[in-house]
Amino acid sequence: MTEIFDLIKSRKSVRKYSDKHIPDSDLKKILEAGRLAPSWMNVQSWKFILIKSQENKDLLSTLSIGQAHVKNADALIVCIADLNSWEEAKITHIKNPALNPALQGENGLLVRTMEQVIFAISYMMLEAESLGVKSCIIGALGNEITGVEKETYKEVKNKLGLNENQILSTIITLGYEAEPGEGSKIRKDFDSVVFQEKIGNKF
Ligand SMILES: Cc1cc2nc3c(=O)[nH]c(=O)nc-3n(C[C@H](O)[C@H](O)[C@H](O)COP(=O)(O)O)c2cc1C
Repeated sequence: MTEIFDLIKSRKSVRKYSDKHIPDSDLKKILEAGRLAPSWMNVQSWKFILIKSQENKDLLSTLSIGQAHVKNADALIVCIADLNSWEEAKITHIKNPALNPALQGENGLLVRTMEQVIFAISYMMLEAESLGVKSCIIGALGNEITGVEKETYKEVKNKLGLNENQILSTIITLGYEAEPGEGSKIRKDFDSVVFQEKIGNKF
């Protein structure tokens, strides 16, 4: 069994995919990993839309300002931040804003909702890695936050059935690596990002 730490080390963004298809059973496991992610008060403020049709991949590539790996991936997972989730979770009786993101203002609500989705994305990417499926996060796209590709975004929301409170936050591209060895892990040094007790004190 592969250790989680090994998956974290081996995962990297892959943007060139082979023609091999990912079995539905593996796609289901990846989506399940997202569904099982933790969230604030278990609000699960997400929806995931699996995309396999070329027509929708092309449209989503346009939304992602023409990124080629969006249209060339074997499958996509469109991740939705669902602002309605907080009300649905019936936490309106909680009056302390620290405990209820619905009381943290428009920006707070947006950030908190996105925050939950990000955990699910991480879980899905690691599950994909464990199955030998490579991925890339796509955040450069048109949505309510960036305000670009307005017309395409309107079309996407309509076609994918999103309501006004459902924000397309992120796309995950999935596929098998076409050129093994693509990319490398470049990170800041451990000592420049990790400290003990206080910034500046090394671990
Ligand atoms: C929130 C977020 C948004 C990203 N958006 C894009 C994107 O639009 N297109 C892309 O090719 N990569 C995107 N990436 C991938 C990053 O460029 C990549 O994770 C980073 O360079 C580190 O490389 P690694 O994933 O190979 O470790 C995004 C990553 C994150 C976390």
